[in-house]
Amino acid sequence: MAKTKIRYVCANCGSVSSRWLGRCPQCGEWNTMMEEQAVPEPPKGVGARQGKGAKPALLQDIAMEQMSRVRTGIGELDRVLGGGIVPGALILLSGDPGIGKSTLVLQIADAVCRHAGAVLYGSGEESAGQIKVRAERLGITASNLIIQADTSLDAVLQEAKRRRPVLLIIDSIQTMYSSDADGMPGSMTQIRESTRRLMEFAKTESISVIVIGHVTKEGAIAGPRMMEHMVDVVLYFEGERNYQFRVLRGIKNRFGSTNETGLFTMEETGLSELTNPSQMLLAERSANQAGSAVAAVMDGMRPLLGEIQALTTHSVFAVPRRTASGMDYNRLIILLAVLEKRVGLSLGTQDVYINSVGGLRVTETAADLAVVLAVFSSLRDVPMDSRTVVMGEVGLTGDIRRVPHALRRIKEGVKMGFQTFIIPKGNLDEIKEGAFPQCRIIGAATLRDAIQAAF
Ligand code: TYD
Ligand code: MG
Repeated sequence: MAKTKIRYVCANCGSVSSRWLGRCPQCGEWNTMMEEQAVPEPPKGVGARQGKGAKPALLQDIAMEQMSRVRTGIGELDRVLGGGIVPGALILLSGDPGIGKSTLVLQIADAVCRHAGAVLYGSGEESAGQIKVRAERLGITASNLIIQADTSLDAVLQEAKRRRPVLLIIDSIQTMYSSDADGMPGSMTQIRESTRRLMEFAKTESISVIVIGHVTKEGAIAGPRMMEHMVDVVLYFEGERNYQFRVLRGIKNRFGSTNETGLFTMEETGLSELTNPSQMLLAERSANQAGSAVAAVMDGMRPLLGEIQALTTHSVFAVPRRTASGMDYNRLIILLAVLEKRVGLSLGTQDVYINSVGGLRVTETAADLAVVLAVFSSLRDVPMDSRTVVMGEVGLTGDIRRVPHALRRIKEGVKMGFQTFIIPKGNLDEIKEGAFPQCRIIGAATLRDAIQAAF
């Protein structure tokens, strides 16, 4: 028998070393190398199951695999998955504790039961009774949803083989114990082995599996990062806990694009799909307030309107404060510098606070113009017209640069009843003459143009 070898695996990125290191050479994190017993490399991916028997073939001779997806009926989920769940796919759903992962999977289970067939929900987190209480609250009545409250992966997989559900749910990988591996549930070795077994199960039985993995902000719990390499699809469920807004984001998808996101709100009775996100984001906006601008941003291929608020106050600190909530802090610093230099605003003695209202996280530079105009509006204490939407990237020279999908953004604004659009001059040629007869569409080449148009 071969001697068992000890090796060291980084809990953050999964890189392997034969000796212990204080700092991972791959990702640069400190104190993440953990000892484990070396096991033969598990096979990875769809092709692996074909093993030694798979012969090389010409690409043109290979038959197309039919990818019949199971639509869950939850539109926002199907959208992220690229049309539905692919049979035999292993899907990792990760997110912070308490964000709503168990709620989401229970609702997915219900939807799949109604549309496609039986679901087995293996839970090591909660008892059957606790799940029942949650199901009651969510109004779930599916007759072919089987709950198995067990921390033994062996027992859950055995049950799944016997019942052959359409979907197997594991909540969560950190609580599951596989008898094939050493270590406590939640340890690196256990997580790796459990994931490997779930992958093997999904592929050999052609049953889709959704597995939940917790992550913490510090990445303290080992696992999900490493699991991302092993599974077919990685979904992140995100949001601020204090806000109702939840985003389901595809990080990796072997069967589709990772461009789309699913939007939900967390209600008393569970998650509900957000079909008109702009409406929710703008719901509490009051007209004609200084320090507010409406941005049109893209979320994948879907346009969203969101309010950007700015507050500037005279600073009592030696170094004035800047706070950015819902946008990149460094981007804000750059935009403020452009305002100082190119427009001549004096911000050196002002604290500046920015907030993207409603918990929407703005990552697109097309929102620059809204940020800049909101700051200008607050500093001068003049409101912008509340029926105006703005878009545009602000360059370091104070120029307004083109944005992709200008037309889609304008259409969303028109749908929401906005009448004036300040857009980059470079985008004007995309808008046909007379396409929006009720609207005023203004092209701005520079920040000064935009300010003139807005105030
Ligand atoms: P949960 O799904 O348990 O989170 P996770 O599995 O990611 O840890 O949801 C946690 C929170 O969601 C909890 O604080 C209560 C809230 N919640 C609602 O607001 N409405 C509901 O209908 C349910 C079931 C939960
Ligand atoms: Mg949970």
